[in-house]
Amino acid sequence: MTRAPERSRPAPPTPSPAQAVGRPLDRVDGPAKTAGLARYTADHHVPDLAHAALVHATVARGRITGLDTADAEAVGGVLAVLTHHNAPRMTPPAPVSALDLSTLAPGTTVDYLNTDRVHWNGQPVAVVVADSPDTARQAARLVRVTYEVEPAVTDFAAAQDDAVPLRGTLLVLGEERTGDAERALATAPVVVDHRYTTPAQSHHAMEPHATVAVWNGDRLTVHEGSQDVDWARRHLARRFGVPLAGVRVLSPHVGGGFGGKAPVWAGTVLTVLAARATGRAVRMVLSREDVIRTVGGRTPTVQRVALGAQRDGTLTALLHTGVSQVGRVGGTPEPVGSQSRHLYAAPHIWIRHSTTTLDVLPTAHMRAPGEAVGTFALESAVDELAVALGMDPVELRMRNEPDRDPLDGKRFSRRDLRAAYARGAERFGWAERTPSPRSMRDGHWLVGRGVATAFHLPVRLPADVTVRLRADGTVLVRCAFHEIGVGAATAQTQVAADALGVPVEAVTVEHGDTELPVGPQAGGSGQTASVATALLEACEELKRSVLALARRSPSSPLRGRRLSELRAGRGGLYRADAPDRGETYGVILTRAGRAEIEVRTAAGTRLGRTLQQARAAAGWFRDRRRWVRAVTGAHFCEVRVDEHTGEVRVSRWLGVFDVGRVVNPKTATSQLRGGIVMGIGAALSEETLVDPRTGRTVNPGLAEYHVPVQADLPRIEVDYLDEPDPTTPLGLLGVGEVGITGVAAAVANAVHHATGVRVRDLPVTLDRLL
Ligand code: MOS
Repeated sequence: MTRAPERSRPAPPTPSPAQAVGRPLDRVDGPAKTAGLARYTADHHVPDLAHAALVHATVARGRITGLDTADAEAVGGVLAVLTHHNAPRMTPPAPVSALDLSTLAPGTTVDYLNTDRVHWNGQPVAVVVADSPDTARQAARLVRVTYEVEPAVTDFAAAQDDAVPLRGTLLVLGEERTGDAERALATAPVVVDHRYTTPAQSHHAMEPHATVAVWNGDRLTVHEGSQDVDWARRHLARRFGVPLAGVRVLSPHVGGGFGGKAPVWAGTVLTVLAARATGRAVRMVLSREDVIRTVGGRTPTVQRVALGAQRDGTLTALLHTGVSQVGRVGGTPEPVGSQSRHLYAAPHIWIRHSTTTLDVLPTAHMRAPGEAVGTFALESAVDELAVALGMDPVELRMRNEPDRDPLDGKRFSRRDLRAAYARGAERFGWAERTPSPRSMRDGHWLVGRGVATAFHLPVRLPADVTVRLRADGTVLVRCAFHEIGVGAATAQTQVAADALGVPVEAVTVEHGDTELPVGPQAGGSGQTASVATALLEACEELKRSVLALARRSPSSPLRGRRLSELRAGRGGLYRADAPDRGETYGVILTRAGRAEIEVRTAAGTRLGRTLQQARAAAGWFRDRRRWVRAVTGAHFCEVRVDEHTGEVRVSRWLGVFDVGRVVNPKTATSQLRGGIVMGIGAALSEETLVDPRTGRTVNPGLAEYHVPVQADLPRIEVDYLDEPDPTTPLGLLGVGEVGITGVAAAVANAVHHATGVRVRDLPVTLDRLL
């Protein structure tokens, strides 16, 4: 349990702890989860709970002209049917500054149930509140809606011509260039120039989105599976016009989040609204269909990658442009050229992102937005160039490995892709691959092997942390970060244990509650490093405070010592030059008459928080000017393709990553493996099918939207270099997203090697191979 009450903590063992960071510790939340004790949002029972269900629009654009709710209201147990006729007014948040999340969080400004306008096919147009979930759902089906339909843009393929180039900002990637890529391309001896497409994809976290909302006057308590409780809280305070201090969002356990649980979507807003309107506590658990219709997913993309090279494989030109879609009422573009700015040492580079606006649900981030689909195009094109040159694809990549950033000459904070490829090639047996397509087979299975590069730029966000040290030697770390199932709390337990020199068993970490100091979003692969940075700072401050207490006592062996002369270990502070000279925290605190001592990274005031954020933002921008801080990796994939049916089986996988220091090899490996699984889904099966005439998603569930299951997967081997980044505290970078990047290309490249068929449109379904 990560939130066990203090008194239930076991007494820490006395022996000196081994270093915790770097060890494959079991997750601290493992026992609670495996015993069914961890409570997810839908597990929360509050007294007098009512249940809500959504009614979705069935047209893409227009006005609601008629709403017949009589049949729904007549169902026994129905408490209310809320529509734009009777729903209380809300104020969708407007951005307050350029750095405000609401400029990026899709869906923020949607005027749910406060308008007769329909913005997308599937938009909620009514909410039914009833005394049971089944009753609410049944009644929701009885709500009849008529529309005045207006012309809508719902066909991505047809809308591509209307794409508008994005203007780059601090937070949005626009156009970047060095040299003259088009001209270099025109004169290059060897050229590949192709169009690649990737489909829309939907968020299918294990736990569907769910909300429990309880109003008490103007005070609001919300249980929510969230990747960003602070944003949820601020969004709801603004939308419902209530004081921020009275809004509390709790999210101790989240059943998976890939970006879809970072914004605030209809389900959350309308559960809070239903509770407001009925005076009851309300719970809404979205069905899979509700998630697909109301939670934005990944945009489809169309991309052009053109590469020009000398005959020896030296790249002369790299051009990567792409179009992604946004909804008319919001959405995040997908910067598909992100990795193409940094991966290859070409003298002429041109990157451009464009968006086209459709009458669809706002698109949203999904694991490695940009690189997940951008690497499919780039790394497929590199493979095509290798084939055109008759060169090994690993060798081609290594020949063009840059020493500095190819766009502006910035240094990489660390980068050892060569080592990742070398180790991967060795472990995978790459040398045994025969280069020609269709040259390897096993009976009727055509065997193919492919590689691709993984690349991601982890973000770093401000975090506020408190650390409390008690006289019994136990430690309490508090920060409103998110446990989305990745071992986030375990990692901070390890960091705190080492920083203070106590056993991991002595550390408790509380998270997922806006009553705690504000933490970062679980996004951008930045949470662990962001919290750890603040936590390390707090632990230093804490040790300084403890030392100050010790130095007051004439009998303390630490008297007259500076912190820099001491080491934390064995539950206390000891002299580096005389390791037996020192004392435990318990001795110091008890002698000083203190039961505990607590420090906080930012003052608990608004000003303190603002200053901390400004400092963190300034640091981030300063770092960005100085170097490219990226994580990379090398994927090795083997596929088997049935020569008669075109069935593709992924038969082997090895990913070798360069992700900085790894806090916990067990949880990091799982993260990277999960990314590879998601990438295999993107490569072979995942696709949100939208009827281009109506904008309606026709596969809104796991029966028709295929994610990989165990039987679809080989054993996935994950390895990493585990070299600390020299520019970050503890050398941490981030592992959440890099795993998925490059995966689809590695699969498509292996499929080409197996079959000789180049598939440039995801997913690689068997009809494309026959
Ligand atoms: Mo992610 S797409 O940063 O949750």
